[in-house]
Amino acid sequence: MPDSGVTEVAILDLADLGPTPVGARVDDVEVVVWRTADGSIGIVARQCPHLDWDLVEGVPDGSTLRCPGHGWSIDADGRVYKRNEFGREDDKGCTQHWSSTVRDGKIWTRSEPRREVPGGETRT
Ligand code: FES
Repeated sequence: MPDSGVTEVAILDLADLGPTPVGARVDDVEVVVWRTADGSIGIVARQCPHLDWDLVEGVPDGSTLRCPGHGWSIDADGRVYKRNEFGREDDKGCTQHWSSTVRDGKIWTRSEPRREVPGGETRT
């Protein structure tokens, strides 16, 4: 089988992930890791796709991480949107995101980010 260049890498000890987001690296890419309300783990590019706010300062909010800059929300599938005061969600495209697996007390991901979001614009 040909080598796809994609490898599985441990990026964080599970014990280091508390209620607030944590920064990590996937190869040479800065990412932010957080736990969603349902207990799953999100991994997305660390810089907000709007104006590069550091998402380590983001606020977990249900299934999303909300940027403190201007309130855009990012889910674990990389979807980005802005929710107004009436609950309407305006699509803002998507950002790089990675899969997550927990094994042996560590959070693992694949070294290649997943970018496909049905109906979404990809931003890298
Ligand atoms: S910098 Fe994140 S919403 Fe504006």
